[in-house]
Amino acid sequence: MNGGGDCAGLNAVTRAVVKRAEEYEWEVIGIRHGWEGLLNIDTVALTYKDVRDLINTGGTVLKTSRTNPSKRPNGSETVLENVKRLELDAVIAVGGDDTLSVAAMLYKKGLKIVGVPKTMDNDLSSTDFTFGFLSAVEEATHEVDNLKTTAESHDRIVIAELFGRHAGWVAAYAGIASGANLIILPEEPFDLDEVVSFVKKRYEMGEKSTTIVISEGATLKNLKTVDQGKVDEFGHVRLGGIGQYVADELEKRTKYDIRTAVLAHQIRGGQPTAFDRVLSTRFGLAAVDLIKEGKFGMMVSLRGTAITSVSLEESTAKRRTVDPQLLAVTKQVSY
Ligand code: F6P
Repeated sequence: MNGGGDCAGLNAVTRAVVKRAEEYEWEVIGIRHGWEGLLNIDTVALTYKDVRDLINTGGTVLKTSRTNPSKRPNGSETVLENVKRLELDAVIAVGGDDTLSVAAMLYKKGLKIVGVPKTMDNDLSSTDFTFGFLSAVEEATHEVDNLKTTAESHDRIVIAELFGRHAGWVAAYAGIASGANLIILPEEPFDLDEVVSFVKKRYEMGEKSTTIVISEGATLKNLKTVDQGKVDEFGHVRLGGIGQYVADELEKRTKYDIRTAVLAHQIRGGQPTAFDRVLSTRFGLAAVDLIKEGKFGMMVSLRGTAITSVSLEESTAKRRTVDPQLLAVTKQVSY
């Protein structure tokens, strides 16, 4: 089962799970549309023949949703009853913080469940990388590279707003990799006056074009995030608009020509990179092995170059934000 926003590599996990399960002579049932598929039974039988060609595909053939069973009347009980009705011996939940928090809660209620860490945001603790992250970074880097050349041709300021709600991993990596001039992350509230003087200073030095990369969740000092006002079942408000906000303010305070680009779902979708294909495969195989070993309530994880496991409770206890070392790099490369 996949839950939350999709990302590149989900199908590669499914493929590896089916492969390993068949080696153990187990049957695999795909749960469709995240937790929704266990609330209103929506499943599909999977054999390796169905999934063997999926390693390089984007999105998820199982579909996904942001359904939260805790927000539905008798949601958790319904999930547990349906797992029994479907005669499932174990469940593999592939998701980020939200999906895996539900998994941790259901484990405490007796469900035999293991987790696989997924999110393009890379903000899950207890794993060095989630799959989907580096695929999104690759796309975002390419887009910012392109934005930079057109901005430079026109002597323009360009602001690229990237996905990243509480953690700026994608903006940090893509910003550094594309040589952006300024990288603004949710980890540290920023000062608009400083952004204005940064751009002005560059202009005075003859650098008439500036590329700014900003996370959707970046906040101005003393101001909340810029959002769209809509909230999902996990209580997350739909973000978006901080790039345009900064552009409008810059326009008011300077005479520069400014453009904004929102790099959001187009960097999340699409094919996984080779790294993510390998990581997804290793995670999928290891998740089945956790079941074989009876290690329920655990999540597979990457530590260094090794696949290991950690409790779902620990992995969802806190969010992983950009570490101080990488944060420092984003500043050291700003110019
Ligand atoms: O998958 C995580 C994420 O990419 C966040 O960075 C973003 O805020 C959110 O998903 C948007 O999700 P959607 O619009 O698909 O609900």
